[in-house]
Amino acid sequence: MEKLVIEGGRPLSGAIKIHGAKNAALPILAAGMMAEGTITIHNVPDLSDIQVMTGILRALGCRTEHQGDTVTVNTSTATSSHIPESLMSQMRSSIFLMGPLLARFGKVQVYQPGGCAIGERKIDLHLNGLAALGATIEESGNTIVCTASRLKGAEIVLDFPSVGATENIMMAAAMAEGMTTISNAAREPEIQDLQNFLNAMGAKIIGAGTDTITIEGVSELTPCTYRIIPDRIVAGTMMIAAAVTRGNVTLENVCAAHLTSAIHVLKRAGVQITINGDIINVSCLTRPRAVERIVTSPHPSFPTDLQSQIMVLLSLADGLSIVKETVFEGRFKHVDELSRMGSDIRVDLNSAFIRGVPRLYGATVEATDLRAGAALVIAGLAAQGTTVIEQIHHIDRGYDRIEQMLSRLGAHIHRVSPVVSE
Ligand code: UD1
Repeated sequence: MEKLVIEGGRPLSGAIKIHGAKNAALPILAAGMMAEGTITIHNVPDLSDIQVMTGILRALGCRTEHQGDTVTVNTSTATSSHIPESLMSQMRSSIFLMGPLLARFGKVQVYQPGGCAIGERKIDLHLNGLAALGATIEESGNTIVCTASRLKGAEIVLDFPSVGATENIMMAAAMAEGMTTISNAAREPEIQDLQNFLNAMGAKIIGAGTDTITIEGVSELTPCTYRIIPDRIVAGTMMIAAAVTRGNVTLENVCAAHLTSAIHVLKRAGVQITINGDIINVSCLTRPRAVERIVTSPHPSFPTDLQSQIMVLLSLADGLSIVKETVFEGRFKHVDELSRMGSDIRVDLNSAFIRGVPRLYGATVEATDLRAGAALVIAGLAAQGTTVIEQIHHIDRGYDRIEQMLSRLGAHIHRVSPVVSE
C-alpha cells in the first residue's frame, strides 16, 4: 500500500494550475454514451475515479483513450447495457450511466454502487426520477434492472436537491419524448457543465444552476468536443493548504464564482484573497481566526466536500468554531485522525466543536475517505514533524498526484511505494 510522507512546517509558496473537475467529468463521460460516434473531452484529470469510468465504458464496448488531459470515447461500438458488478462497487458515480444507457438502449442493469463511506448514500431519488420518466424498475437483492421502450417527459420534484439524481434525470430526460421539469434541482456548477455538454450534443435544456431545470426531449444527440470546468474542490483544498501553512500561493485556472461561500469563510478567518480573472492569490501571515459557525448545505452554501479540510484550518485558529454537517451523516471520520495530530475537536451528532490549538504534530494517520484524506494532507503540511498518511488510494480518487502539486509549492511531501520482493 502506498503512503504519503510529509515533513510539515513549511509555508507553501508559488503558483499552480488547478486541474479539471472530477465531479463534472464523470457525468459528462457517462452522458457521452447517448451519442453514437467519438466524443472528445479536454481538461479531464488523471484520477482513479476517471479510470474506473473509462473502464466501465470499455466494458460496455466503447473504445477510450486518455492522452494528457484529453479523453476520447468512441461509443459506436457499445453494445452492452450491463455494468459489471466489480466495477460498480468501485465507484458510486457508476450510477450516472443509468440515465444514458436507458435512453440509448432502453435497458440498463446495474448493482448497488460503492464509493466513499461517508453516509448511507441511497439511490432512491435516482430510481424514483427514472420511474417518473416511465422506466420499469426491478430490484432483486443487489441487482437493479431498468427498462423503457421510450422514456416520456414528466414533472419531477426532488425531495432533496441531490446532485447525482438531478444529473441522472437530466440525462435520461434529454432523449425522452416531450418536456421534463425538475423542481428542487441541485444547483452545483457541475450540473451547469453537464447542461452545457448535453446542449453541445444537441439537447435542449435550460435552467441548470437554478432550482428548476426544463428539458425538451430530442430524438438524437450527436458527438461533440467539450472542455471541463476547473475543479472547485481541489482549488478550495489548495486555498486552505496555503492558509494553514501561512503561505502565499497563486492558483491558476480557477472559477472564483464557484467558490463564493468558501472564499467568504476564509476571509472571515482572516485569510487574504485576491481574485483576478481565473487567478486567485491566497496568503495568510498571521494565525487564522475562529469562525463561529459553518453549515454545509447544497450549493451555493458551504460545500460538504470542503468540510474536512476547513476543519484543519479551524483546528489551528484562535478561538472556538462550530461546523455543522447537513449533507452526509457519516462525514466526521477525519476527526479521530486529526485528534491524533493534536487537534481539539468534540463531535455531537452532526456538529463539530473545534477549539483551536497553537500547533499540530506529525503522526501516522489513515485516510478514511477522499476529502478526509485531503484534510490529513493539509494537517501534515502545517504540523510540526513527520506525518505518514496511509490508505491514500482514497486521495487519488480526486486529486491528480497531490504530492506533485504540493511539491511545486515547496512542500516536503513524497509518495512511498511498498517494496516488491521478487
Ligand atoms: C455529489 C458529489 C460529491 C458531493 C455530493 C454533495 C459527484 C460525483 N459527487 O455526490 O462529491 O459530496 O454531491 O455535494 O458529483 N440522497 C438520497 N437519495 C438519493 C441520492 C442522494 O437520500 O437517491 C442523499 C445522500 O444520501 C446524501 C444527500 O442526498 O445524504 C446528498 O447526496 P447527493 O447530492 O446525491 O450526492 P452525490 O451525487 O452522491
